[in-house]
Amino acid sequence: MSFADLLNEISNPDCVTGCNKEKRKEIAENDLCSKVNSAIDQLSVRCVGEHAVQKIHFLIQYFGIFATGMHTKWNNKINYIEICSGPGRCINRKTGDEFNGTALAILEHPSFKYLNKALFFDADTSVISALTERINSRNISNAFVHYGDYNNDTDICRKLVEEISKDSLNLIFIDPTDCSVPFQLIKSLKEVIPNMDLIINVASGTDFNRNIGSALMDQVKYKNSIAKYAQFLDGMDFFENPDNLVKAQQGKYMELRNLFREYYRINLLKIGYRFFKFNSVANFYDLLFATSHERGIDFWEKATRIRFDGQRKLF
Ligand SMILES: C[S@@+](CC[C@H](N)C(=O)[O-])C[C@H]1O[C@@H](n2cnc3c(N)ncnc32)[C@H](O)[C@@H]1O
Repeated sequence: MSFADLLNEISNPDCVTGCNKEKRKEIAENDLCSKVNSAIDQLSVRCVGEHAVQKIHFLIQYFGIFATGMHTKWNNKINYIEICSGPGRCINRKTGDEFNGTALAILEHPSFKYLNKALFFDADTSVISALTERINSRNISNAFVHYGDYNNDTDICRKLVEEISKDSLNLIFIDPTDCSVPFQLIKSLKEVIPNMDLIINVASGTDFNRNIGSALMDQVKYKNSIAKYAQFLDGMDFFENPDNLVKAQQGKYMELRNLFREYYRINLLKIGYRFFKFNSVANFYDLLFATSHERGIDFWEKATRIRFDGQRKLF
């Protein structure tokens, strides 16, 4: 199977294409288009930019190598967990082509058969019901969609503990649209499922780039943004460092972006992660991969070396 087969991309003639931010606000709730449903199953589609496919490519290549390489070593106790799953199908707002989002790309991947379970979480009930219908229509019995708000780590962890055992190997993908996932969630997840490779979408090209300069320079006016970033980084150190204010005044945003990543990496080290890699996706965001094992980072390096080419066979 090739990456193109896995995406199952088709043109959706109902999409008017080219909606700008204002238009999207008008016709889409949480980016679920109210005018267009999937031409395949008539369920909701998520309106996305072109870079979304690159993210799916990184995830899928890693997933294939991870699941194929590890399932026998872990006695088939391996799970895939996604927080911010989306409805499973996306539509490219520029071309009107719809394709599988991360959740369906995992469910239809040839290596899905190696999983014990796939667990999806999202905080939008329309997203949850669309993805649930998609799973049910494929008669998949080991994938489940739960309500899960990443601000409520206790609830997500309780649901995870009910479904999977502590001695399993897990791949967790967290895919928010901004830097608002509290670090507490990562800490709690690592406690309940210690063997966990993490991929998190860090919106450093969009959310962070747009707001960090103003936030550093006027910490009173932007106290809500600061509270959000401080929760994300698990502390105020980044904002209390006077050097960072100087960098903001000098417009050194790339340096600030690198430092922000570094604070995050240090916090991950504190909870047991040892190997890291940030991969930029079209300068919109960074996918951060973190693992406690050397083999994990080897797999990630291998996965991200695979060129983004629709025709190439999946791992
Ligand atoms: C970038 S989209 C996910 C796209 C999907 N992973 C894909 O690539 O096909 C972000 C998702 O996060 C969900 N979301 C927003 N706030 C959330 C929260 N507090 N907790 C969990 N999910 C949330 C949204 O409903 C949306 O479906």
